Amino acid sequence: MIKRSLITLSLITGCFFAPSSQVVAQNSQTQESRMNATVDSILAKMTIDEKIGQLNLLNPGGGVATGAVVSDNVQQKIKDGEVGGLFGVAGPDKIKIAQDYAVNDTRLGIPLLIGSDVIHGYKTTFPIPLGTSASWDLEMIKKTAQIAALEATADGINWNFSPMVDISRDPRWGRVAEGAGEDPYLGSQIAKAMVEGYQGDDLTKENTMIATVKHFALYGASESGRDYNTTDMSRIKMFNEYLPPYKAAIDAGVGSVMSSFNDVDGVPATGNKWLLTTLLRDKWGFDGFVTSDYTSVNEMIAHGLGDLQAVSALALKAGLDMDMVGEGFLTTLKKSLEEGKVTEQEITTAARRILEAKYKLGLFEDPYKYLDENRTKKDILKKSSREFAREVAAHSFVLLKKDAGVLPLKKDAKIALIGPLANNKNNMLGTWAPTGDPQLSIPVLEGIKNVAPKAKINYAQGANITNDEEFAEKINVFGPRAEISNVSPEKMLEKALKAAKKSDVIIAVVGEASEMSGESASRTNLLIPESQKKLIRELAKTDKPMAIVLMSGRPLNISEEAALPVDILQVWHPGVEAGNAIADVIFGDYNPSGKITASWPRNVGQVPVYYRMKNTGRPQPSDDFTKFKSQYLDVSNSPLYPFGFGLSYTDFEYKNITASADKLPMDGTITLSATVTNTGDFDGEEVVQLYIHDKVRSITPPLKELKGFKKIMLKKGESKTVSFEISAEDLKFYNSNLDFVTEPGEFEYVIAGSSDKEFKNSFELVK
Ligand code: NOJ
Repeated sequence: MIKRSLITLSLITGCFFAPSSQVVAQNSQTQESRMNATVDSILAKMTIDEKIGQLNLLNPGGGVATGAVVSDNVQQKIKDGEVGGLFGVAGPDKIKIAQDYAVNDTRLGIPLLIGSDVIHGYKTTFPIPLGTSASWDLEMIKKTAQIAALEATADGINWNFSPMVDISRDPRWGRVAEGAGEDPYLGSQIAKAMVEGYQGDDLTKENTMIATVKHFALYGASESGRDYNTTDMSRIKMFNEYLPPYKAAIDAGVGSVMSSFNDVDGVPATGNKWLLTTLLRDKWGFDGFVTSDYTSVNEMIAHGLGDLQAVSALALKAGLDMDMVGEGFLTTLKKSLEEGKVTEQEITTAARRILEAKYKLGLFEDPYKYLDENRTKKDILKKSSREFAREVAAHSFVLLKKDAGVLPLKKDAKIALIGPLANNKNNMLGTWAPTGDPQLSIPVLEGIKNVAPKAKINYAQGANITNDEEFAEKINVFGPRAEISNVSPEKMLEKALKAAKKSDVIIAVVGEASEMSGESASRTNLLIPESQKKLIRELAKTDKPMAIVLMSGRPLNISEEAALPVDILQVWHPGVEAGNAIADVIFGDYNPSGKITASWPRNVGQVPVYYRMKNTGRPQPSDDFTKFKSQYLDVSNSPLYPFGFGLSYTDFEYKNITASADKLPMDGTITLSATVTNTGDFDGEEVVQLYIHDKVRSITPPLKELKGFKKIMLKKGESKTVSFEISAEDLKFYNSNLDFVTEPGEFEYVIAGSSDKEFKNSFELVK
């Protein structure tokens, strides 16, 4: 039996996001006042302990713990009204038990929020987010979030810790895998698409959930790419380059925000009032709730901000509403209240925001609304979802090199399929897929057999992912990702060379194990592990045509491999349909169209290397060396592969890059367009990108800024004109006063298939 607080029930007459008819604004006002009435009435009945209990978020264990501790005694704490939400539990049966304690055994019967890290799909695992971003397909990305929400809510989850929108320009940082790369414009578009996908237009629906934008803020700028490390940057850089995707998520109506582990301007984000209140609420108008990251309240002790009582009070006063796992709020806030270190109002405000979230989800009306076993059976891992995952994966792959012309393969080819990732289930899902099941994933070997049953395949593992036992141990914490074979490396290599000899072509599937990227997986060395590099070197000596299918959770340093006469297809960690999608692309059923969203360095010393860089006073745009210019002695300034780069089996030509006028008035628009022609031998899709350069500004402008993109399909020989309408609004930036302004003057532009193309034309923004 469902027990509900009488007061709560009597006040619930509608839902906050109930579908409305024509008078949307009026309705939402009514809905808001209903929510306020309900929440006010609950708050009026709550003791201070019950309010503090709502701020406590626990992880009972059993799932993935991403910190040193998991919560204990959770059952009793729920019954004692000391818990506002749980995460790391899944399945209607288990969640029902917890929800029963909250609803039936506590004085007010307030239901729990049930959170989860659904980062790139729930059970239907899509490619890692860095991969999905390479599709540049916003509709597709939104649909991945919709399917994730459908499945997660069918398993009892109502609150998701995604999207992760941290801009990062440092591939040493393992969590680049979880984001959308280096660019604020693309990152913002993707942030919006994901929030819309998870939350839909009606949070009370059974198949939508509250999204969380994370990690607020600047987590991707951790110094030296070492996870959890300090960050420090100017406000100008923050506003122009790092904050836009978080803001885009807020503007899209995201329901919650997760504070990051790092410090911002010397104060950890979790206790940073400027960040969590002045910027987030006062300036951006965020009205949802803010959760900490895993024990990030407590971690402020190590940051050097005082003891648990002090840091908990600091966090609450800064604007943090929910304390993940650390229980600093639960154990110290009452004392702080008694000592006058926090106010009752501050506690009430935080509790109000948690209750509002529960109201918006419709949990007061039905705490069990996400606990439907029929949906668990019906909505999870649907055939159509897996088919879609296959399509998304194929769209995320990036053809980095096609010099050898090996790809696409003929379906009856004699193939040496070689490499430690060629017949491997454990690494297909990628990092942060705790809800996925690696055993459901399709290895490359199986995918090839599915797509090209007539192909003759000579398979050999060829090498271990790594021969370094100590390293392997570190990446095997969530299960076997890099197993070291009993067969000696020499023997494995010998078999691989034999397989190559018997075949017409080599497909080498190599790269990173899934947990070589992700949280707490920073690397100072961006190379393919040496065991596999050696394999590639030896295979290259056979003179058989070779294509490398490269898996990784980050941009790698593949300068050595890129110098070989091979094709290279970057496939990230492609998700549950990995092998099928890879086979679709290598046999040409889908022509690759992905474009990288983070630059690939020539070596680690270049990092950070990104397209949106500024000119120095001593620029060196070419690869020649000139003393006293801004450059290196050993490598050129350009990355190995620039942002926006990706080849196709066909070729595209850009012509007639023009503007509809020479001048753009402040209150007008201008249309920039180009004719794109498919000049090659295959039909294909192309991501057409618009870059602009503000030539003179009151602050140093970036050399290029992405301002628009469109993905188009062109048949062999076909041409299309692609246009972008630009207004002064699109040319705005934050100036030294942090005002968002446009300044008149000349703007160069180019429309191209990659960020490294030169500007040829310009227009003038006039007053
Ligand atoms: C720590 C991670 O930083 C965060 O992204 C995640 O949501 C939490 N752990 C919860 O698992």
